[in-house]
Amino acid sequence: MNVEAYLPLAGKNVVLGVTGSIAAYKAADLASKLVQAGAQVDVVMTSAAQEFIGPTTFAALTHRPVTVGLFQSNSELNIDHVALALRADAVVVAPATANTMAKIRLGIADDPLGATVLATNAPVVVAPAMDAHMWDHAATARNVEVLRSRGVKFAGPVEGRMASGLSGKGRMAEPAEIVQHVRAALGENGDYAGREVVVSAGGTREPLDPVRYLGNRSSGKMGYALAEAARDRGAAVTLVSGPTALHDPVDVEVVKVETAGEMQGEVVASSREADLLVMAAAVADFRPSARSTGKIKKENGRPRSITLEENADIIASSSGPRLVKIAFAAETGGHVEKARPKLEAKGAAFVVANDLNQPGSGFGVDTNRVSIVGPGGKVEHLPLMHKLAVAHQVLDRALPLLK
Ligand code: CTP
Repeated sequence: MNVEAYLPLAGKNVVLGVTGSIAAYKAADLASKLVQAGAQVDVVMTSAAQEFIGPTTFAALTHRPVTVGLFQSNSELNIDHVALALRADAVVVAPATANTMAKIRLGIADDPLGATVLATNAPVVVAPAMDAHMWDHAATARNVEVLRSRGVKFAGPVEGRMASGLSGKGRMAEPAEIVQHVRAALGENGDYAGREVVVSAGGTREPLDPVRYLGNRSSGKMGYALAEAARDRGAAVTLVSGPTALHDPVDVEVVKVETAGEMQGEVVASSREADLLVMAAAVADFRPSARSTGKIKKENGRPRSITLEENADIIASSSGPRLVKIAFAAETGGHVEKARPKLEAKGAAFVVANDLNQPGSGFGVDTNRVSIVGPGGKVEHLPLMHKLAVAHQVLDRALPLLK
């Protein structure tokens, strides 16, 4: 099963507006990423954008004609000035200069991009790129405020080094991040709209001393995929995450924790008002009874032992008037049998079980082969698939159970 089918971009019409900033070269990468995610991309360029990058680049990447003028002969806008705007599922302006943002605020439609943004009912995502002084100017700040109040979504800008050589806020967000904003915008009215979903991800760390901890090999990939999938279907998502190397997903409230105790506090608190808790985290069952304040020394090779005490069961201790709970179970052999007693012990509607010994499954990899173990001995074995696809399969099964 290919993962693109699970991205909300598959088969969608995205208009990419490119304006006159040096970051326009990054818009080529963005166009390519949108196409790879399955979208049909129509690029509209302002004349200033063409000082930085040519339409041929975008035509080659998108396999579509590029619109550069209101009255150009090869453009659909020639037939109908608003054709692209009406067909669009999303409009993304990246990079968006201060000048373009000001024009969008005022509804100026003297070029095809202005006309498209004015005529569309689709969600609009703007990725500003400008000198930090221009971003900080009261005029720009006010334009951003007005556009936000009209429902325009902003991707960035971010802090960093600018083309001028100065550092500050005004760099365009990275294309991969902008794609996530477009995904979130496309999915905002999805089947999880109005739902609150809490996802836990990654492994917890139980400190022994300031230097060492007891941990596990969880990468967090399954939980992050769940958080992104729920967001892509319109849910308001809280992601309670142990330490991972992954980027924070866009439009998700990310709460970073380290120990099982911290994770319990955050998951229990955010689950109270939530519709769904998906506990994908690999929680340490035990913690060292004592945490040394100084680094533990080897003391001439004398053998040592660590005394452990049990951590509370986070999912079992989470509850709320609407809360439906889904547990995970990563096992080495016999995953279905071992998952069964967890249904009741954890109050879970179903358990997503996987066998870490199976190739392509479990920690660190992008794929997973899971079995969904439900009440009454019901088991569904799913094929090996990308973790984002697994996430959607889990959400598909949870949706009808929500209160
Ligand atoms: N879990 C939890 N709190 C814990 C331990 C586990 O909420 N202290 C959750 C996990 O996030 C997972 C599910 O419970 O969703 C099953 O975790 P697992 O480690 O397989 O179960 P345990 O109850 O710890 O049983 P065991 O390790 O003995 O198999």
